[in-house]
Amino acid sequence: MKTTLEGIVSYAKQYGFIFQGSEIYGGLANTWDYGPLGVELKNNIKKAWWDAFVKTNKYNVGLDSSIFLNPETWVASGHVSGFQDPLMDCKSCKTRHRADKLIEAFSNGTVDADGWDKQKMYQYIVDNQIKCPKCGEVNYTEIREFNLMFKTAQGVVEDSKNIIYLRPETAQGIFLNFKNVQRTARKKVPFGIGQIGKSFRNEITPGNFIFRVREFEQMELEFFCKPGTEMEWFGYWKTYCADFLKSLGLSSDHIKLYNHPEEKLSFYSNATTDILYQYPWGFDELWGIASRTNYDLKSHMDHSGESLEYLDPETNEKYIPYVVEPSLGVERLFLALLTESLDEEVLGENDTRTILRIHKKLAPVSIAVLPLMKKYHTEKSEEIFALLSKHFNVQYDDAGNIGKRYRRQDAIGTPYCITIDEETLTLGTVTVRDRDTMSQIKLPVNELKTYFENQFE
Ligand code: GAP
Repeated sequence: MKTTLEGIVSYAKQYGFIFQGSEIYGGLANTWDYGPLGVELKNNIKKAWWDAFVKTNKYNVGLDSSIFLNPETWVASGHVSGFQDPLMDCKSCKTRHRADKLIEAFSNGTVDADGWDKQKMYQYIVDNQIKCPKCGEVNYTEIREFNLMFKTAQGVVEDSKNIIYLRPETAQGIFLNFKNVQRTARKKVPFGIGQIGKSFRNEITPGNFIFRVREFEQMELEFFCKPGTEMEWFGYWKTYCADFLKSLGLSSDHIKLYNHPEEKLSFYSNATTDILYQYPWGFDELWGIASRTNYDLKSHMDHSGESLEYLDPETNEKYIPYVVEPSLGVERLFLALLTESLDEEVLGENDTRTILRIHKKLAPVSIAVLPLMKKYHTEKSEEIFALLSKHFNVQYDDAGNIGKRYRRQDAIGTPYCITIDEETLTLGTVTVRDRDTMSQIKLPVNELKTYFENQFE
């Protein structure tokens, strides 16, 4: 089934995955709150990434650095001077637009203004009489650069000396801790540092639900290697990332690699590839993988005066490591997984079921415990819930008829349902139902824990 974005938004709201932020106050544009199922799915996504990139990867270790960093960090990283969008206002209807996006839309994507200076973009817009998408006038202000970092003030006095930024990426916290981590974890290059955390960008054109938002979470790895070996590692991490996505159930038909052409690379990068996913509106960026040379460490070294060089204990060579960086947004993977997994299955004439065919490991609820009849089976069901909920994410549901309860669990992607009935009381067995096949087996209560341990391995 082809899932539409509208379908996903309404599904996410209906089942308690994602709500509009600040809804009772009429909402706050482009903010989203994750409900009971959404927070579980998010946690499972982050755990899967952490397991693959930190816990089970022999090269890497983890970090949790501050959102607020010394403001000089953002000068050194280039964000203060270069992390900006070219904006112009329509003087007639007072709406604000990104000049490069106006050109892109006008030319149906055939002209890419990325990298053009303000004058060239302005001239193109005037020469081609590109109309304001809102009111149709051609009556713009000059183009101004708008920095995407959110600013706030630290402490009680709001003056320019106290300005700090909400980080627009987690990566810089890793670079600042390169030496601390290398020394305390006794790591030799090559090694990586992984981090998961919130990032903030004052995006001019947020949209497509949770795809482009102003507050989001990144799962970033900065992998430090010897200069000259970075292309080998770049290849290694590209394959590793694509394999990770496939292991979570994204079909290879829905994944595409886009290599940035050399002339479009950021000035510090010698190779960049995006992993694109086929979202409901088409292929779009899911994961950015960049070979960042030694730009960040060198820049922080120059600005801070602290050496971030590495001394190779075997060769006695001193160098600033090169960096390969796979950077993935939690929300983008969340949306890709819903797009991939949400299905409306036809079971027979006039009979369909909504099913979220999500990987077992990611399902927000792993097992549902369902007493067949509340009146007779509650006590035993509660016992089973208490037994399993210590080890798995279990939901207890005794509301409505059993068929409806199965369908609700299918719709939220619960891989297994356990039904407690008369046989449980007399013979000590329960019925275990499989989400995908809908087949049922009988199992003794005392075997359930081992059975599910094997299923979720
Ligand atoms: N440290 C490198 C970096 O931040 P990026 O390409 O700007 O690179 C990396 O961002 C990833 O973060 C993107 O591929 C995407 O998954 C996610 N991301 C970036 N901006 C986002 C936004 N406004 N909303 C949601 N996710 C975003």
